[in-house]
Amino acid sequence: MRRPILAANWKMYKTTAEAEAFLERFLPQVAGVPDVEVVIAPPYTSLDRVGRRLAGSKVALAAQNVSPQAEGAFTGEVSARMLVDLGCRYAIVGHSERRALFGEKDDVVARKAGALLGAGIRPIVCVGETLEQREAGRTFEVLREQVAGSLAEVAPERGEELVLAYEPVWAIGTGRTATPEIAQEAHAFLRERLVDRFGPSAARIRIQYGGSVKPENVYALMAQPDIDGALVGGASLDPEAFARIVSFLRSGEKR
Ligand code: PGA
Repeated sequence: MRRPILAANWKMYKTTAEAEAFLERFLPQVAGVPDVEVVIAPPYTSLDRVGRRLAGSKVALAAQNVSPQAEGAFTGEVSARMLVDLGCRYAIVGHSERRALFGEKDDVVARKAGALLGAGIRPIVCVGETLEQREAGRTFEVLREQVAGSLAEVAPERGEELVLAYEPVWAIGTGRTATPEIAQEAHAFLRERLVDRFGPSAARIRIQYGGSVKPENVYALMAQPDIDGALVGGASLDPEAFARIVSFLRSGEKR
């Protein structure tokens, strides 16, 4: 009942020409893949160009960030309304790189998620523990706090529009993927928190896994009961690799 959602987070990679070259190769490979939702989050500078190319395709456009403010004197910021204007259906908020490198705390993530929902964009809210927190046995405490804080501005009736992304910081860009069992344990815990917060509709909220997802490991991760998608960084930069990730069901059948 939860439609798998595979999202590419391109981070600060690809010029507009490189983004277009990716789409030329990627889109024909995924045109016939059924029953999954595909999302691409290019840098702001390519949103317009990528959005135009995706119009009429089944692939949705996403931003990697948004301002919590509606408008005003905020040099360098981009508002949710501006993202709507470019055709964004999703936006990532609270990515661990923004938390660690740009000092974003849960309250700011919550305001960003609220601003997106206010504009009609679905937030992909990222949470996840660091290696130090995991080794100190604090994983669930950290996740509990991040979920409570980052979703504080999501109205109870809007929960289903949300996508939650579990991205253990130690697995991002490191080649060290969480095992399907470790990921499932965290996802089940997150699902319980969503039930506390949103009630029965939490069963319809999708929880993505992120952190070194590749064509080789996506099927085993997606086979877990509470893993409903993937947020992919490095492997999403390559059209063949991301197309194989999107077609994960096919790779599973071959096994
Ligand atoms: P990765 O990044 O796939 O390169 O580990 C995931 C992410 O940061 O969303």
